[in-house]
Amino acid sequence: MTTDHSSATASIHGTWTKRWTFILAASGSAVGLGNIWKFPYITGENGGSAFVLAYLLCILGIGIPIMIAETMLGRRGRRNPIHTMQDIAHSSGASSFWAIIGVMGTLAGVLILSYYSVIAGWALAYIPKLASGEFNGATGAFANAAFGGEGGFLSDYKMLIMWHSLFTIVTVYVVARGIEAGLEKAVRFLMPALIVLLFVLLIYSAVEGAFAQGFQFLFAFDASKLSWNSALVALGHAFFTLSLGMGSIMAYGAYMPKQDSIGKTITIIAVLDTAIALIAGLVIFPLVFAHGLEPSAGPGLMFISLPLAFGHITGGQVFGSLFFILVAFAAWTSAISLIEPGVAWLIERFGYTRRKAALVLGGSAWVLGIGSVFSFNIWQNYKLMGMFTVFDGLDFLTSNIMLPLGGLLIALFVGWAMKPEMVNDELKMENTKLLSAWWFMLRYVAPSAVAFVFAMGVYDKFAG
Ligand code: TRP
Repeated sequence: MTTDHSSATASIHGTWTKRWTFILAASGSAVGLGNIWKFPYITGENGGSAFVLAYLLCILGIGIPIMIAETMLGRRGRRNPIHTMQDIAHSSGASSFWAIIGVMGTLAGVLILSYYSVIAGWALAYIPKLASGEFNGATGAFANAAFGGEGGFLSDYKMLIMWHSLFTIVTVYVVARGIEAGLEKAVRFLMPALIVLLFVLLIYSAVEGAFAQGFQFLFAFDASKLSWNSALVALGHAFFTLSLGMGSIMAYGAYMPKQDSIGKTITIIAVLDTAIALIAGLVIFPLVFAHGLEPSAGPGLMFISLPLAFGHITGGQVFGSLFFILVAFAAWTSAISLIEPGVAWLIERFGYTRRKAALVLGGSAWVLGIGSVFSFNIWQNYKLMGMFTVFDGLDFLTSNIMLPLGGLLIALFVGWAMKPEMVNDELKMENTKLLSAWWFMLRYVAPSAVAFVFAMGVYDKFAG
């Protein structure tokens, strides 16, 4: 028989004492490559404003309610996501099947980290590139060729592996030292710096870019041209950008002090995260249109458009390298949260040291990541089912399948299987209207919307 840990007041991994720490860590997890790299490129690939609208609706109607639920589970359980789910299911008299949320999430974290660190490696590589001044006065054609052209950045897979390795090492290093050391400072100083630089770029884009066209592309909101597959990508990205559906936020919730208001805190984080993505889009698309680049250029979009801007700004060499430093930091504070659930589990379940757990999971992600490196060069023509490189396949599997399923299960568990008194007790929402609105969204709206978009999107992708 398992012990009931479901009302413990602290986690064995420590509790974040200062009120700010959860907000910093959770926003550090949420804000990352998803906002600055992925959101703009998938928006470009999926046609712009209709996609943006779908994404915003998913954040509001699905993401925020489920994110509150996931954080609440973490704080209630105070253990790693697998044990937390077992404990809470047990004390609610529900089946231990629900631990699947933790199991699938732990796996998804490692799979995501594998390609996440490859892209973060690109950001690292662009720091010295910008500092060297090779983009000074560059044209769109030059930036394009420098990134993806023959003999360009992507073709040098040894270099890509080196940067991927470096990023993996620094990620494993902080996780091995424990969640608090280092992370707090990184988020407290570097995130505001990133936001300031984004605003500087926004001004540049507004003045020098095709701002009206970029704005129109993002916000014209013509719902006519959205395929179900694009709707699924928007849904998947709502989960991805909020670090939702796989236990990251559950693991962090486990370290959240008892008295903090989950609803308020999560809403602040989600709004901040969304704002940063929209600003990144508003920076990138005016540049794309002004320089005749393709909005649908794919994963290279940010690495082609932003060096162009820096190549034309006074002090662009300095600001440009600084920008990519900050992007790499943002990626780092996100990457940590990808393996924290698995690390906490290996420690609690098998008595691993933190160091060993971080090495095992980081090492597995590193090996898998090589497949993503090759997806952009020597394996770029090998496509599973005629559509997926290793990178595409891992991204689709995690963002569009595992995260939505994890989120669906969290909504169903908290909405229907967990004891409601336990939920209300943990949330301590004083505003009863808001509380009932949340229950309604979580029980009915979120699960049916996720299930519907998921089914339609998968069908559209594979059979449509
Ligand atoms: N949200 C992060 C980003 O946007 C990535 C991330 C961190 C993540 N933890 C996660 C994505 C958990 C999905 C699940 O860059």
